[in-house]
Amino acid sequence: MPSIVTGTISRLRCISCGATPDSAACDFRCTICGDLLEFVFPEWSFDPTELKALWLSRRNSRKVLDHSGVWRFRELLPHIPEEHAITLREGNTPLYQLPRCARAAGVDDLYAKHQGMNPTASFKDTGMTFAASSAHQGGFRWVACASTGNTSASMAAYASRGGLRSLVLIPDGKISWGKLSQSLDYGALTCQLRTDFDGCVRILNELVRRKPVYLLNSVNPYRIEGQKTAAIELLEQLGWEPPDHIIVPGGNLGNSSAIGKALLEMLELRLISRLPKLSVIQAEGANPFYRSVREFGGAKLEPMTADTQATAIRIGNPASWKKALRVLRSTGGEVEQVTEVEIAAAKAEIGSDGIGCEPASAVTLAGLKKLVRGGFVKPGENVVLILTGHVLKDPDFTIKFHRGDLFPGTKYEGEAAGARHLQRAPVVLDADLGAVIAALEAAEQKKS
Ligand code: F0G
Repeated sequence: MPSIVTGTISRLRCISCGATPDSAACDFRCTICGDLLEFVFPEWSFDPTELKALWLSRRNSRKVLDHSGVWRFRELLPHIPEEHAITLREGNTPLYQLPRCARAAGVDDLYAKHQGMNPTASFKDTGMTFAASSAHQGGFRWVACASTGNTSASMAAYASRGGLRSLVLIPDGKISWGKLSQSLDYGALTCQLRTDFDGCVRILNELVRRKPVYLLNSVNPYRIEGQKTAAIELLEQLGWEPPDHIIVPGGNLGNSSAIGKALLEMLELRLISRLPKLSVIQAEGANPFYRSVREFGGAKLEPMTADTQATAIRIGNPASWKKALRVLRSTGGEVEQVTEVEIAAAKAEIGSDGIGCEPASAVTLAGLKKLVRGGFVKPGENVVLILTGHVLKDPDFTIKFHRGDLFPGTKYEGEAAGARHLQRAPVVLDADLGAVIAALEAAEQKKS
């Protein structure tokens, strides 16, 4: 029978009751109180200077594991023996300056850590390399996830690389073709269920209790551990000088939890000397965490039926909300919500900086603008946006926006007029030199 094993120097601990089980149940929930588990490292003691030097030296290593931007930082992760590691050289993602977006948001210094530059084009790969490896270590044959598209694409890829079979549960018709096509190509058994993401999660939780299938959603604490490395790599890229703010999109809230956990651990280990404020942005139509914090002071989270064209974050009952709340409180971050039009406009602005991202990632810039307007982010402070997915994940959204087809007939029609200047619809012309020259000259007249 396969089993879920943990490494030697790490322990699992329940985030609510503090229980420290030796192994995890199949749904990764505490068997005493039902809340989420996290890894803790009671025996940690490192010389921060030596650790930084060791990680840097691995950049010149010939070892495959050292080529991964996740496994390169393995001292801060639970132990998984090397023979079980499934890697696609994930991580190693670029940090870009965003000058146009900085002007649009009203800050001097704005960067994007582009997690869409991972092997399957989303941030999920950093958690997936680690959690899929733990499934391999546990001797599982099948892995499974419920997904809005990116987790499933990532899981399918890593499962195939590691010789595992994968089962994907996705909401029928509510994910982008790009993501669906990935999971097919990477060889998953892909089930489109007639429900939403939250409905897929419910079925999956039942399934793992009945079948020896390893759960790869972000309630799996190995996912969170792998995703921590995005923050470690970011700080290394910044010469270990923390930015004032890090801004993350919020869906199921695993990513904000992971990045926040890494920041707190780096402070504890004296790898950094102060904490950036970590803020979480949600779409207005999928804002249960925003409402939890703003309306109930974080005392409870009321699940909702979520709706947004940023399908990656169309989530009404986020599993990791308590972890994210803890991060918000310990770093002094904020939570904000943005409209559908604000998301689409911000996405086009990130595109104008030559970077691009998928709609869910663009909530970060839209949220930053609000945080600047409200005075939470000061113009002189430096800010890093975490872009979670690649622009090619959802070309349908992009084309509809530029053609002006995203909002007609919706309640956003009026607001959308304000984003028209960002639309760059393709021009259809006869195959005629004069027509192309006229188009060029007309474009030259219009300021870009
Ligand atoms: N951005 C993108 C592109 C995503 O795919 C997701 C989540 C998020 C942001 C939100 O991250 O859930 O950790 O708060 N996508 C999941 C999926 C749920 O199934 O692919 P989160």
